[in-house]
Amino acid sequence: MRTETEHTIFLKDYAETPYSVVSVDMDFKIEEASTRVRTQITFEPRPTTEPGTPLVLDGDGLTLSSIAVDGYPVMLADYAANETGLTLAEPPHRRFVLETEVHLKPEDNKKLMGLYRSGGTWCTQCEPEGFRRITYYLDRPDILAPFKVRITAPREVAPVLLSNGNLIDKGDAGDGLHYALWEDPSPKPAYLFALVAGDLGSITDSFTTMGGRKVDLAIYCTHGKQAECAYAMDSLKRSMAWDEKRFGREYDLDVFNIVAVSDFNFGAMENKGLNIFNDKLVFALPETASDANYANIERVIAHEYFHNWTGNRITCRDWFQLCLKEGLTVYRDQEFSSDERSRPVQRIHDVENLRITQFPEDGGPLAHPPRPDHYREINNFYTTTVYQKGSEVVRMLATLLGEAGFRKGMDLYFERHDGEATTIEAFLKVFEDAAGIDLSQFGQWYTQAGTPQVTASDSYDAASQTYTLTLAQNTLPTPNQPEKPPFVIPVKFGLLGPNGSPMGWASVRGGTVQDDLIVLDSESVTLTFEGVANKPVPSLFRGFSAPIKLSTSLSQQDLLFLARHDSDPFNRWDALQTVATGLMARSATGVSLDAGDVDALREAIMDTLANPDLDDAFKALVISMPDETVIARQIGKDVDPGAVAVARRNLIRTLVEPVSERLEAYYGRLADTAPYSPDARQAGRRSLRNGLLSLLTAGSSRGAALAEAQYKDASNMTDRYAALAISVHNWTAAAPALLGDFRTRFAGDPLVFDKWLMASSQAPDDGVIERMSAVLAAPDFPRTNPNRLRSLLGGFVMANPAQFAREDGLGFRFVTEAAAEIDQVNPQVAARILTGFRILPLLEAKRRASGQAALESLRSQHQLSRNTGDIVDRILAG
Ligand code: ARG
Ligand code: ZN
Repeated sequence: MRTETEHTIFLKDYAETPYSVVSVDMDFKIEEASTRVRTQITFEPRPTTEPGTPLVLDGDGLTLSSIAVDGYPVMLADYAANETGLTLAEPPHRRFVLETEVHLKPEDNKKLMGLYRSGGTWCTQCEPEGFRRITYYLDRPDILAPFKVRITAPREVAPVLLSNGNLIDKGDAGDGLHYALWEDPSPKPAYLFALVAGDLGSITDSFTTMGGRKVDLAIYCTHGKQAECAYAMDSLKRSMAWDEKRFGREYDLDVFNIVAVSDFNFGAMENKGLNIFNDKLVFALPETASDANYANIERVIAHEYFHNWTGNRITCRDWFQLCLKEGLTVYRDQEFSSDERSRPVQRIHDVENLRITQFPEDGGPLAHPPRPDHYREINNFYTTTVYQKGSEVVRMLATLLGEAGFRKGMDLYFERHDGEATTIEAFLKVFEDAAGIDLSQFGQWYTQAGTPQVTASDSYDAASQTYTLTLAQNTLPTPNQPEKPPFVIPVKFGLLGPNGSPMGWASVRGGTVQDDLIVLDSESVTLTFEGVANKPVPSLFRGFSAPIKLSTSLSQQDLLFLARHDSDPFNRWDALQTVATGLMARSATGVSLDAGDVDALREAIMDTLANPDLDDAFKALVISMPDETVIARQIGKDVDPGAVAVARRNLIRTLVEPVSERLEAYYGRLADTAPYSPDARQAGRRSLRNGLLSLLTAGSSRGAALAEAQYKDASNMTDRYAALAISVHNWTAAAPALLGDFRTRFAGDPLVFDKWLMASSQAPDDGVIERMSAVLAAPDFPRTNPNRLRSLLGGFVMANPAQFAREDGLGFRFVTEAAAEIDQVNPQVAARILTGFRILPLLEAKRRASGQAALESLRSQHQLSRNTGDIVDRILAG
């Protein structure tokens, strides 16, 4: 039995290494069967290091074939090499060069960390701890060094040889071999190292920076895929321009290369000057990629590019600080998408995503602060909390400081910490110094887990024209954090008068209100607004100004009033969602709904659809009904996900029936007229049309036929996939045939196969698990490819709760059995899939027990990886 502290690493134990790295020279000789890596590292003891202090290097699965110090072989007695590293007992007490040689088998590396092969191409993934699978090293982010990398490989199989930085030499190496020498002048941590060797096609372009330097851009891909890289290239150039304009950040090397590979554990990686991408985030053609894919490509290309400043030039001191680069960079990519597309629509998407993925994490057994203080397996902390909540925390800083104040702090951050590996504390300090404020309490957002619950109550006294608003916060305990001192919560707000227009006040007592901002930094605050002419309706947390759950005493009528009149588009959307979620949650728990309430919601939706001042993308969001997981969270406990799905469908049906003809006519009018373009306006129109199709299919007798017809007539993937997914989700009579057609129509395109897998996993019928098992068991199923596995299993656990959490436990067991097998091959993927079990505490007792039993038997019957063991243990302990 494992003990709690086994392998646990604590933030409080952080200490510098006794030796620093001055420079790294690597020499790769790539051959079909194996790769020889010779590394020369120049070390130097730190001034405080005692003579005779051992040098302890990380290594993972390496076999040492030779070792020398300053050119002299090291005696057997003076070093020890094992599965986790290499120790030099008594290194020289001066600058010295350690030379090691190892042989790797990239072909056999299915964990996809370190050097591996994807579709014949050699490539690397080093973040967070993959470099130690390539050579012995101080594999931690606070060790920065310049790298020189020589790659030798057979010219035929690998005409393209890439690494970080600039190409300084290349040529023939005899025997059919050739070589390339790359130099990366900027000191970097090893997790940003990258190497690519293969037979690849490319597209090229260039970007001239604001300082006038011309940067050569290239995207490398499988031959024949070049045309599919155009949107990614366009996104890259727009990202480079945006970072100059918005943050004053210029690119610093002469080349910027991107490589698309098919086997990749996550989205993409920001290696210095050589980003490596999951090909699903590069390739796009209208026939095979959806609008959502295009938007994602744009976002992730930007994200990785933005890391060049927030992540690479300024990196993390240790992995506890991960959200220093990730939260900040997500904030930057969200801002980029907002500027390139529609700000309110982007904000709503980002908040929806936060609520569907991060809130469940933060309210369950896997909850952790954006800056955790201990971990067993760092790979399990690349989470939505670190990324998305991390971004929300940066956004709150920007809200509190204002745009100019925030920019001033960011400028100071870049100026003060360029070239460093630093911490969240240092990040907060620049804003304290730039704005002259104290952020120590605000810093709790980084160190405390949990979603605060904010309760708002108000009253109005007509005689004295006084409006009183009380805001109180409370955060439930999370694992290891029973007590939650209050957060600093920025509340953007407004008061709406009876005719919907903004209302002013003469003065406020009881707290500080600056323009439209209240800062709630204690358990509760009561504000008294004087000189308020009429009873207002408050619009709170405009733009979702803090990642909290709000409960108010607003009636459905007040909420629908906000939905019609609020000047804040986010709150207009949110008010309607709150009403719909509330109705669905009530109906799922057996309360019968008041017809008048449903009628009023319908009317508000129809008015929104008819409003000429709102754009299509926004309307599409308004009519997209709350996700099942959001409804389940609203119920809070003893949830029967099957009942949630039924309640959701029933409400949609009741909403749609009386207006189905109007909706269908609207649907017809939105048919596309112009040739496909992925731009936000056209995409918005398509998403509105597909939103209507979704309502019609769930709620009218004609919907299924419309969906089938749209599937057949579609001229682009967005419309075809939407029609397919809607048919499957409602399990229409045509759904099985459409799935069959989709699979054969795009046979041979792995990324479209992912869409088929994802759609298949969403079927609500009881046959879904059997069908998925058959897909997985097929001999030709690509069982080592993360995209395929995640599309089928990730889609199932995260988005089909009614089948995943079936009462008979079949869904749970299907997933644990699949995960046990995947764990043998790729622990990161297995662990990620199992995080879906975090819903257990929310479920009614029988389902909860069968989910626990599935995890217990997974744990007792298999030798689990550290990744998977950590997730299973935490879920069962929670
Ligand atoms: N740094 C990469 C990014 O841009 C992701 C690396 C993910 N690594 C992991 N082990 N999950 O977000
Ligand atoms: Zn990132």
